[in-house]
Amino acid sequence: MKEKTSAKKKEVDKKNIEKKTPPKQKNIKKQIKDIQKKLKEKELKKPESKQKPELKEKNQKLKEQENIKEKSESSDNAQTKPPQAIGEKKGPSDNIQKDSPEKQEKSEKSDINKKSEEELKPESKKSSGKNSEKNHSNQSSSKKPILETYKINVDKAGVRIEITKELSGIVYNLHSPKIGIATASLLERVREELVTTTTISMKEITDPAAFVVIKKRFMLEAETQIKEILPSINQNLKEFLIGRLMQDMLGLGGIEFLVNDPYLEEIVIPSSKEPIRVYHKKYGWLPTNLRINKEDEIVNYSNIIARRVGKQITVLAPLLDAHLVSGDRVNAILYPIATKGNTITIRKFARDPYTIVDLINNKTCSIDIAVLLWIAIEYEMNVLISGGTASGKTVLLNACMPFIPPNNRIISVEDTRELMLPDFLYWTPLVTRTPNPEGKGEVSMLNLLVNSLRMRPDRIVLGEMRRQEEAMVLFEAMHTGHSVYATVHADSAAETISRLTHPPLNVPPNLLKAVNLNVIMFRDRKRGIRRVFQIAEFNTTDERAEANIIYRWIPEQDKVVKHAESSRFFEDISRNTGMSQEKLNQNLEEKKQILLWLIKNKIRDLNDFGKIINIYYTNKESLFSSMKKNEVKKLLSRE
Ligand SMILES: Nc1ncnc2c1ncn2[C@@H]1O[C@H](COP(=O)(O)OP(=O)(O)OP(=O)(O)O)[C@@H](O)[C@H]1O
Ligand SMILES: [Mg+2]
Repeated sequence: MKEKTSAKKKEVDKKNIEKKTPPKQKNIKKQIKDIQKKLKEKELKKPESKQKPELKEKNQKLKEQENIKEKSESSDNAQTKPPQAIGEKKGPSDNIQKDSPEKQEKSEKSDINKKSEEELKPESKKSSGKNSEKNHSNQSSSKKPILETYKINVDKAGVRIEITKELSGIVYNLHSPKIGIATASLLERVREELVTTTTISMKEITDPAAFVVIKKRFMLEAETQIKEILPSINQNLKEFLIGRLMQDMLGLGGIEFLVNDPYLEEIVIPSSKEPIRVYHKKYGWLPTNLRINKEDEIVNYSNIIARRVGKQITVLAPLLDAHLVSGDRVNAILYPIATKGNTITIRKFARDPYTIVDLINNKTCSIDIAVLLWIAIEYEMNVLISGGTASGKTVLLNACMPFIPPNNRIISVEDTRELMLPDFLYWTPLVTRTPNPEGKGEVSMLNLLVNSLRMRPDRIVLGEMRRQEEAMVLFEAMHTGHSVYATVHADSAAETISRLTHPPLNVPPNLLKAVNLNVIMFRDRKRGIRRVFQIAEFNTTDERAEANIIYRWIPEQDKVVKHAESSRFFEDISRNTGMSQEKLNQNLEEKKQILLWLIKNKIRDLNDFGKIINIYYTNKESLFSSMKKNEVKKLLSRE
């Protein structure tokens, strides 16, 4: 099935009076003529009282056409608008505010290319600038104390972020170069060209790999179009325009910048009446200077997101769980279920995941704990990671994964893709699927866990253990010699046992013996820190299981101390490996040396970190020899 990039762009098509396929090599005069045409169109849209008499008639016709279109719009969408926020459905191009006709007439006389460049200068350097994007109100924050400022580039289009301290609290400000009439006109023209000349198949929309290809194709096509229209356009302007086109046509418009801000963990569009809110890694929840002005547009974004993953969001199915092409998790919920207005929540997928080096550096765990986790993973111990909501369970689980030796088949099962392993590992990630509106097509965690056992896995990773069936399959897997890692929602080792052995999980206490290590994560909300809180092992009898806490964190000293001797863990490792205690200590010491060296050399990137661990497993002598000579580059450039 073929689908045009979006229906709303077709609307834009229809409204345009100018020719669809401009001749090659348009000169600047032609550009100015086009702008004049657009001005006429704009004049047509003005309130009747202000229109020139000869245009009134045309305007009446245009209105009639629009009435027909409105009537044909689905009733589904109409019901998703809160009463006070019913608005016209608009394409991204319509989000661009336009100047007054007088001002436009003046600007037409200047060179369009020069004008476009002027529009892209930072606000403070501009001579004038009333043009701004509706969605991205460019409030000046220059007089407010700036806590931090940085740039974000998406498809080469750049914006500036300013975190400011205001009377009401800290605010996240996104400043995008203003798009004026000349640039808007250029964008419009290229967009029309792309829409008429390029089609996208459903497969290309839903398949992430195909989507990357189509994006490249669009970018090349856009570049060709821009070069044809403006042969002398400068590089910066060209890249900015291409970037904006990609965001509008294939992405989520201006929200793409937020999705690409590495400091943001969560993005919430609460309704059209409130500003977009973000969860910033350093400052926590912050309001932004951005707002989606129309409820319709929030619905429109939800539809785009749903379509990409072959789902639907409608009045009858107003809840959507989906993910973006980038892997970020999205939840959308429509009005009136979300009573204030249509709501979208985006939980971002860590593009640059924390490695154990980061977690040692930010004191989440000590180096001794890291070494203990490493040896547990290397020698196939089963590890459960517990903790409260957002305490860092998944982050720690992910950080431990590079310790898995190469050539072990790893199967992970998650509701949404959160795990990210280094490239060299032999990893098959699986994700569940919710049923479609007819209740069909569900693939549950249990389905995947059972299936994973048929895939000859060495290691099984489960995102989160929630139901009895999953727990039973997981414990079965541990007992049949697989190495299992999973997270559980519990605040302490004792609570983990209680959670596991009571409903809904209901695991018989004696089965808990299969768990070799339980790591508990803790998040101190006041101090904004996350720590490994306890490391425990389980001692079990037929009737009960008890936690033996080996290490624990002391909050007053912010330090992890040894709490009790291990009764099982090291014994289990010795039994599995045949290593004496002395050999084991030696092994722990060499791992510690490697981690210290990685920290010293700031080797923290997931793949770089993974590479060193890989060399440790495949050629330990050469690693230690290179470490001695501090041959960082040589080690990292190894294939
Ligand atoms: N050790 C850490 N140091 C700094 N930030 C962290 C740490 N652990 C987690 N975070 C941040 O907290 C967020 C939530 O972490 P994570 O997803 O690991 O929590 P969780 O306990 O698995 O949550 P959930 O209960 O939703 O599964 C992450 O996106 C990450 O940015
Ligand atoms: Mg988690």
